[in-house]
Amino acid sequence: MFRKTVAEGIELKLLQTSEADALYALVDRNRERLRRWLPWVEQTRSPEDVRAFIRRVLDQYHSNLGPQTGVWVNGSLSGTLGCHPIDWSNRNCSLGYWLDTGYEGKGVMTRCCAAMLDYIFNELKLHRAEVRCGVENFRSCAIPKRLGFTREGVVRQAEWVSGRWIDLVVWGLLADDWGVVSRKDRKV
Ligand SMILES: CC(C)(COP(=O)(O)OP(=O)(O)OC[C@H]1O[C@@H](n2cnc3c(N)ncnc32)[C@H](O)[C@@H]1OP(=O)(O)O)[C@@H](O)C(=O)NCCC(=O)NCCS
Repeated sequence: MFRKTVAEGIELKLLQTSEADALYALVDRNRERLRRWLPWVEQTRSPEDVRAFIRRVLDQYHSNLGPQTGVWVNGSLSGTLGCHPIDWSNRNCSLGYWLDTGYEGKGVMTRCCAAMLDYIFNELKLHRAEVRCGVENFRSCAIPKRLGFTREGVVRQAEWVSGRWIDLVVWGLLADDWGVVSRKDRKV
């Protein structure tokens, strides 16, 4: 099973269907802030919806299309970080993430993303990683920026979220870029 220790008290673990109730409760507690940026939140109305999602992403993982993980902080499920299905023809994948409000601003997600990038570049040997964030989602955009991604452009009205179109910034990172960032004394 996919499992990575990120730092003391922070772990990434492949999501399991037995965690559906806990994950739903976490989404529900964070619903108002998450629905602003994440289109799936509106359609997530019961633990069964989350269970179906976890089944789908376990299939994805077992089909070698990348993991969707729970972010565990001090033993509590506190968010998720995962790969959207890997495009193996181009050795490319994009990442998505969210975190419980109680753990924001402590560097948790930046460090989790760094661990995931180590995995996708060093173990899976992917060529490129991408993150797409709402242009006004400053907290989210700060993560790829901090990790050395290049701001490659803006795709206009690319996502329908909570009753409005949002423009998305495309952040890209190549395996070679990550090699350089990894060799430097990284801040994360
Ligand atoms: C976006 C989101 C995941 C950010 O999570 P996070 O854990 O707060 O982000 P970080 O880990 O990068 O936090 C960095 C902050 O922690 C601080 N920090 C503390 N210790 C740190 C460390 N060891 N390493 C890095 N940063 C550290 C940084 O200084 C930074 O503070 P600042 O933002 O005031 O400059 C979270 O806000 C969220 O869930 N938002 C809603 C959902 C969402 O938008 N998802 C993304 C859709 S594209």
